[in-house]
Amino acid sequence: MAAPLHVCILAAGIGSRMKSDNPKVLQTLGGRSLLARLLDKVAVLQPAATHVVVGQGADLVKNACGGDVNWVRQEKRLGTGHAVQQVAPHLDPDARVLILLGDAPLIEVDTMRAMLEVDADLAVLTVNMDNPYNYGRILRRGDQVVAIVEEVDATTEQRSIKEINTGVMAAKARCLIDWLSRLDNNNAQQEYLLTDIVKHANEASAKVAGYIADDPIEVTGVNTFTQLAALERALQMKTAEELMEAGVRVMDPGRLDIRGNLKAGKGVVLDINVIIEGEVELGDDVTIGPHCVVRDSRIGNGSIIKANSVVEEATVGNDCSVGPFARLRPGAELADEVAVGNFVEIKKSKLGKGTKASHLAYLGDATIGEDVNIGAGTITCNYDGENKHETHIGDAAFIGSNSSLVAPVKIGPGSTIGAGSTITKDVDSQVLALGRGKQKQIANWQRPTKK
Ligand code: UD1
Ligand code: CA
Repeated sequence: MAAPLHVCILAAGIGSRMKSDNPKVLQTLGGRSLLARLLDKVAVLQPAATHVVVGQGADLVKNACGGDVNWVRQEKRLGTGHAVQQVAPHLDPDARVLILLGDAPLIEVDTMRAMLEVDADLAVLTVNMDNPYNYGRILRRGDQVVAIVEEVDATTEQRSIKEINTGVMAAKARCLIDWLSRLDNNNAQQEYLLTDIVKHANEASAKVAGYIADDPIEVTGVNTFTQLAALERALQMKTAEELMEAGVRVMDPGRLDIRGNLKAGKGVVLDINVIIEGEVELGDDVTIGPHCVVRDSRIGNGSIIKANSVVEEATVGNDCSVGPFARLRPGAELADEVAVGNFVEIKKSKLGKGTKASHLAYLGDATIGEDVNIGAGTITCNYDGENKHETHIGDAAFIGSNSSLVAPVKIGPGSTIGAGSTITKDVDSQVLALGRGKQKQIANWQRPTKK
């Protein structure tokens, strides 16, 4: 039987190089925390146990990430070796252990699998970097990795080595536990360095292999906001490329941000500076114009979201037109062929098929039928200062411009509301309702003169 897999993730660090007191692994990449991202990937391997080493802010990390995890406390940050020492008592001695760094979240599942298949007592994931500054350097004798030296402990000659330690390792648990027990802190950092297990493995004549990853981005650790931004762009570029390969027209892959998951049909166009958050589903032939934010929403076939619109927790039917400068707030539900124009805000309201609200309106807590025309400046007065009330508008009603509909109120089907009305009582069907001062005229009116 194959050895069970135990995964060990080091995540006790705070973002000291980000001048932050919060756990670094809660920084986000593509809208998801570094640790949650890594845990998603680890779950694919179906490990027998996943141990995550946490320190300051442990509760924040646990609450944010949850999952089937054995949380291990490292009270004092005495180094990466010390962190893994905390996990040692939880390891099944017969297991194979995969050690990952919580601040290097873009490692691919295939790379983890490849690491676990390396035929050695200890496998170290390495990569060649043009600028290896600050990373641990790999010292080899042929295929055998004989040591890893940290930047501060390295000689000038060692610093010129471009093959670096990614921090990811795979080892037999029984051996690992033994090597960990031999660590000391006699080094420039005065820390228990995980990298020193390589020395102890060599002393025990164990086979230590280096497995070279092809893509530095996969294994890049995040220590600074500059590195986080670089990784964010790399991830976004990869996501944009996947979308383009799946048939999405991305106008500029450098100006698209997917902070969640996007499901897109055929013929979809994403213009520049589009931000997608949470779970978003776009049907066929949907166009999202420039500078739009779409969060947790579904947009039907053939619909267009025009420039500078914000769509949040909304449902848009087929062949709708939204924007420019429209705001669909949570609970906005547009049926097919609805048009919502500029400076229209819609909250928790249903608009029936073919209904139009083309300019300057606020529709909240409203149920609006089919083929209704909402004139410019229409406001549902849904809030009395304490409670929210509903507005119902029947099919084919016509709401004249600048009308205030004081909820709770019902407008019957086919009725017309005269422009500038304040409607405080229910309106029957097929009538004209006016609720405004009568116009009068004063002849020969003289304007005042300046004194
Ligand atoms: C580490 C490696 C270095 C490698 C680099 C790759 C060591 C000694 N050095 O250096 O060889 O090139 O990663 O990015 O291992 N952590 C704890 N507890 C601790 C210390 C660290 O949980 O006491 C966690 C951190 O949260 C982080 C990870 O371990 O997720 C790595 O720690 P960090 O301080 O970033 O190590 P590096 O200096 O980057
Ligand atoms: Ca690091």
